[in-house]
Amino acid sequence: MWWWLLSVLTCVLLMVIIIFLLTTRQRYKVFSEKCLRPPGPLVNDNKLRDNRLKRGFSVDRVPPALDAVVIGSGMGGLTAAALLSKAGKRVVVLEQHDQAGGCTHTFQNKGFEFDVGIHYLGQLHENSLLKVALDQITEGQLQFTRLEQHFDTLVLGQPDQRREYHIHAGKTEMVASLKRQFPGEEEAIDEFMRLMKLASRRTPLIAILKIIPHWLVNFLVHTGLLDRISSVFCLATTNHSEIMSRLTQNKDLQALSAYLFYGVPPKESSFLINALLLHHYKRGAYYPRGGASEFAFHIIPVIQQAGGTVLVRAPVQRILLNQQGKAYGVTVRKGQEEIEVHAPVVISNAGIFNTFQKFLPQYIQEKPEIQSLLGMVRHGMGSFLVFVGLDGTKEELGIVSTNFWMYKDNDLDSLMEQYSSLSRDQVLGNIPMMFITFPSAKDPTANIRHPGKSCMTLLTMARYEWFEEWEGTKLGKRGQDYLGLKNSMAQELLDWALTIFPQLRDKVVMVDAATPLTNVHYLGAPRGEMYGAEHNLERFTPETVAKTRPQTPIDGLYLTGQDVFCNGMAGALHGGLLCASSVLNQILYIDLLALKTHLKRKQINHKHT
Ligand SMILES: Cc1cc2nc3c(=O)[nH]c(=O)nc-3n(C[C@H](O)[C@H](O)[C@H](O)COP(=O)(O)OP(=O)(O)OC[C@H]3O[C@@H](n4cnc5c(N)ncnc54)[C@H](O)[C@@H]3O)c2cc1C
Ligand SMILES: *[C@@H]1O[C@H](CO)[C@@H](O)[C@H](O)[C@H]1NC(C)=O
Repeated sequence: MWWWLLSVLTCVLLMVIIIFLLTTRQRYKVFSEKCLRPPGPLVNDNKLRDNRLKRGFSVDRVPPALDAVVIGSGMGGLTAAALLSKAGKRVVVLEQHDQAGGCTHTFQNKGFEFDVGIHYLGQLHENSLLKVALDQITEGQLQFTRLEQHFDTLVLGQPDQRREYHIHAGKTEMVASLKRQFPGEEEAIDEFMRLMKLASRRTPLIAILKIIPHWLVNFLVHTGLLDRISSVFCLATTNHSEIMSRLTQNKDLQALSAYLFYGVPPKESSFLINALLLHHYKRGAYYPRGGASEFAFHIIPVIQQAGGTVLVRAPVQRILLNQQGKAYGVTVRKGQEEIEVHAPVVISNAGIFNTFQKFLPQYIQEKPEIQSLLGMVRHGMGSFLVFVGLDGTKEELGIVSTNFWMYKDNDLDSLMEQYSSLSRDQVLGNIPMMFITFPSAKDPTANIRHPGKSCMTLLTMARYEWFEEWEGTKLGKRGQDYLGLKNSMAQELLDWALTIFPQLRDKVVMVDAATPLTNVHYLGAPRGEMYGAEHNLERFTPETVAKTRPQTPIDGLYLTGQDVFCNGMAGALHGGLLCASSVLNQILYIDLLALKTHLKRKQINHKHT
């Protein structure tokens, strides 16, 4: 009885606080239907694209009287910058690479174009929250193409005993196709789907922990009230293997429930994040029409319209703090010089580690609040990518938009644990997992942009330690030993992929590879991380969720991007939404939801008339 009363009281208190936060702070009109235009034609001219994506940093290009400076032009940085711009703020985005986009940048090699960090996206059906948000920051210019309904194939086991499972998108098809493939496991599949849906629906409650005051979070945690508010907090803090072992003893089904790898074995990861990743694709998998660089290409004009700009070759060195300890700008390295750029708000898209360990002076890093934050997160695992150029069109090569996830064993816990405990000398011959995708087969414009050419990308996880010896060497000048390891790993993955696609063997005309050191260079990832801070169980405890919020212990300094909530284009975009909400002191989700509801209603009325 007593507990019950307390729970109700807390819920009421929470509602009052949330309503207070929501109603007292509506000041900026950020979203509108009016800003949407019909999509323009694809801009294919390299010069036009470079003018926007590769605008180099110089002092005279920095706009005067800035409202904010953003470090990094990934989806997190660009989203925050675009939202602030839509609120009338003047923002400069500073990017260390020679082009904007972060993980969404693309590169060309021997006439082939490759994306880096956008293989496929979900939750982009008409009037989804993500689609409405993307339309707002691109004025409706980004377009997506759906992959086949059968968007992923999971391949488990050694070559002589391979099992293939097909993952289908669709509100009912996903579950129906799984049941067809796992006869006798219907109950487990239904329960898994139920928990997945619950995780997705209740995730906003987790995000609220990043908005409400820390004392309230502590109160809810210490009284145990949080777990009474929703079972999503329990899903977030329970390891994936534990939940799955309660549902089924089928090892293949257990593997399937966590096949989208990101470097953490299921037993050390949160059920929540695995469920969210798969749920992301439930309503369909998509690819940006025109390739991944379309993200930055269409967001930048929104920033420019408010007088801001995005400048590349602008490596930020330090965040400037005044005597009161408030951030007032950054310094950018240009040749031998360090140039100051001033703004009352500094937003970092460069991740928690760069922000607190690289950009701030030692005495600030040593502050207890910052030490406790850093103590809660770890560097994520690195990635290893192979970029393969193929001679021929999609039709000629017989390739499809479906992706392939390969594991040599169905016990993902021991497979991943063993893999990441290998020493450098043991890696070759022992890579146990791989992702295969054909970017050109997912984009209907690929054949117009690069006629007669196709591409394949292979991906696996890799430890920074395997490449650490060459830390500090320069790109392209890392020496023969490095090249040897890199090329042998690439060959191993390529040979493995060719066992699935033997028809491609004679069509390979170009192979390039990227190690964790490549991520250091192009993505500014301090230890070659693929997805920023590690997505382990600890990251989804309420304490860590609440600590990793856009506001930092430093006045005027904010975080955006994948370290704020979670990885993925969508994760980084939500980081940007939370960040802009925090800077503007206005919860932008309310306005966004209102717009979404309005658009949905209009769509329904339209269908009826
Ligand atoms: C190989 C790979 C495949 C992926 N596949 C998918 C996928 O299929 N679907 C999906 O949704 N997500 C995918 N992701 C994840 C997704 O791309 C990322 O989670 C997301 O884009 C991260 O955005 P961000 O803005 O947080 O960070 P980033 O995009 O990493 O941006 C950070 C930016 O900060 C810049 N920076 C760093 N230091 C400095 C400095 N000192 N000065 C100036 N700038 C600096 C970096 O250069 C970079 O541009 C993939 C990622 C990788 C690596
Ligand atoms: C996962 O949870 C179970 C049950 O609580 C526990 O026994 C196991 O040790 C956990 N695994 C890890 C790696 O924490």
